[in-house]
Amino acid sequence: MLTTPAARASENGALTAKPSPPAAVASHARIRSLEDYHEAYRKSVEDPDAFWAEVAEPFTWRRKWNKVRGGAFSPEGSSTWFEGAKLNITENCLDRHLAARGNKLAIIWEPNDPKERHLRLTYRELYNEVCKFSNVLHNLGVEKGDRVCLYMPMIPQLAIAVLACARIGAIHSVIFAGFSATAIADRVNDAEAAFVITADGLNRGAKQIPVKRVVDEALEHCPSVRKVLVIEHLGWPVHMHEGRDVWYHEEVKEAGKTCTAEEMDAEDPLFILYTSGSTGKPKGVVHSTAGYMVWADYTFRNVFQVEENDVYWCTADVGWVTGHSYLLYGPLLAGATTLMFEGVPTYPDAGRFWQVCDKHSVTIFYTAPTAIRSLMAAPLDNVLSYSLDSLRVLGSVGEPINEEAWYWYYQHVGKERCPVVDTWWQTETGGIMVSALAGITPSKPAHAGLPLPGVQPVLLTQEGQEIEGNDQEGYLALKAAWPGVIRTTYGDHERARQMYFAPYPGYYFTGDGARRDENGLYRIIGRVDDVINVSGHRFGTAEIENAINQNPHVVESAVVGYPHDVKGQGIYAYVICHQGEGSTEAERNHLEASIIETVVAEIGKIAKPDKIQIVSGLPKTRSGKIMRRILRKVAEGETGNLGDTTTLLDPQVVDEIIAGRK
Ligand code: WTA
Repeated sequence: MLTTPAARASENGALTAKPSPPAAVASHARIRSLEDYHEAYRKSVEDPDAFWAEVAEPFTWRRKWNKVRGGAFSPEGSSTWFEGAKLNITENCLDRHLAARGNKLAIIWEPNDPKERHLRLTYRELYNEVCKFSNVLHNLGVEKGDRVCLYMPMIPQLAIAVLACARIGAIHSVIFAGFSATAIADRVNDAEAAFVITADGLNRGAKQIPVKRVVDEALEHCPSVRKVLVIEHLGWPVHMHEGRDVWYHEEVKEAGKTCTAEEMDAEDPLFILYTSGSTGKPKGVVHSTAGYMVWADYTFRNVFQVEENDVYWCTADVGWVTGHSYLLYGPLLAGATTLMFEGVPTYPDAGRFWQVCDKHSVTIFYTAPTAIRSLMAAPLDNVLSYSLDSLRVLGSVGEPINEEAWYWYYQHVGKERCPVVDTWWQTETGGIMVSALAGITPSKPAHAGLPLPGVQPVLLTQEGQEIEGNDQEGYLALKAAWPGVIRTTYGDHERARQMYFAPYPGYYFTGDGARRDENGLYRIIGRVDDVINVSGHRFGTAEIENAINQNPHVVESAVVGYPHDVKGQGIYAYVICHQGEGSTEAERNHLEASIIETVVAEIGKIAKPDKIQIVSGLPKTRSGKIMRRILRKVAEGETGNLGDTTTLLDPQVVDEIIAGRK
């Protein structure tokens, strides 16, 4: 753990948050009323250059931009923002706060086990740690533009490492520490990363996971990796690969204490984050420096209506985009206090979130519907035993929040006094796109609400016609670029172009379906492509099928999503095995266990199928296309209404599938 005297002092409470004067902000940068919102929105559409120039003004720029917006948004997908500007995002997250907020808490870290001590880092301490970490990276040979993959527990060193990469101009790519060795190898190889940062192990609830061992297994297949930097967290013995692996606590002894930030171009990539799409292989979403910075900060402050003394907690892991934009960058850019939690909502019991809220007087709480639903299933006492008095704003992200979960959250957590912001966005959008601004714009259960300034959502027909008026449903697309828009997919711009910008020229295509209600509020219905959202995590059905097909018993598979009480969507896999296999129940149980093992090895536990049905055939058209519509209906239990099945090659297969439904 961090053991600097300053860190210890702050841990003992010597350096607690002192209110500092809020930094001067431009008028459009902060929306404080419904009128402000309408005015900002109008200006963002009518004169986007002037609008964003004003929003970007208060940041620290080494050199100002020549042009606010550039590039061809669609169909080329080559947007640029603040071209010509020079900056470093960490000077905006850290250095510029030192004068007024040096002693303010930047990060509060709460460990997995409530019996362990929490840790607090002020802005000055965080700055010092980031400088030292940057020097360690330098000494290892990391240079501007190098890709660094991080596979880490949720500990302060993860935040510090991410910022250190950004400080020296290296491109970070965080891999969620629940992915398997194979999944790590795929990402490291795609990013052609020469450096990996990891830890000896991690805590997740009652379990401990040897992450370094997983990394070692992955790196057997990653020729590009030259150095692995290992953080000591659990104190476990690990195998150190000679010449490749080094301990952080050893390296830091030689590291200098100050580190001048590298000067970056506005459009230099800041990070790569892998996410699943409708094809089999996850893609590396690339975000730029300046545009992402402005977007993360602007959306964070306005959606959550952050005030100087807030204690803000986003429960997402830094391995996902929410952890990037709203645990790290957004809060630190805004000079806020951000809480980082190592554990899980249900350990040691289902009151853990609420205990942490009370313990640290959390004022803004941002989590995922799946977490709310899992806590709803526990006895209500788990939440009622805590006061939750400090809470002021609640947020939801990652998947549609059903009304039941919305009301439970609003009533039992927010005590009917905290606005709930249901924030719709994507890894590719960099930050929140459609959401209520807490207490300012309308918040309606199960509705994300109105678009943020700069965001122009439209509903399209399948053919790409804009659907006018309210009370309508369609494909959700976005007209005109915003600063946080994805810049490319790493190493393959054509993929980004094809995926997001080419389907409907003139628009960014989200892959989501949405409804605009009678008042113009948006409700996100769910994916319209072959992507399923399991506990707020995206998987391509093709990606899971590819994994299942690696199992030697498997001939072919088809994966669909189905409604799941806690996860939102569950994974239902129809699998054809080699002839003769799976004829008895014992054999089928064995096959299912083996298939699950394969998926866990290929992707990770998070992609484990909930239901596997061994079938002798799949419903296919005469041209060989799998009729997923039928498979989805069967998985959903709607077997009476399968629609036209006469075009199938072998209609009988449907009867067998219905009979064997799980
Ligand atoms: C879904 C997470 C409904 C949506 C930030 C989107 C949501 C995908 C919401 C992106 C929401 C995210 N309401 N659906 N508030 N937020 N989604 O890239 O399907 O992990 O396309 O980004 O999650 O997931 P991603």
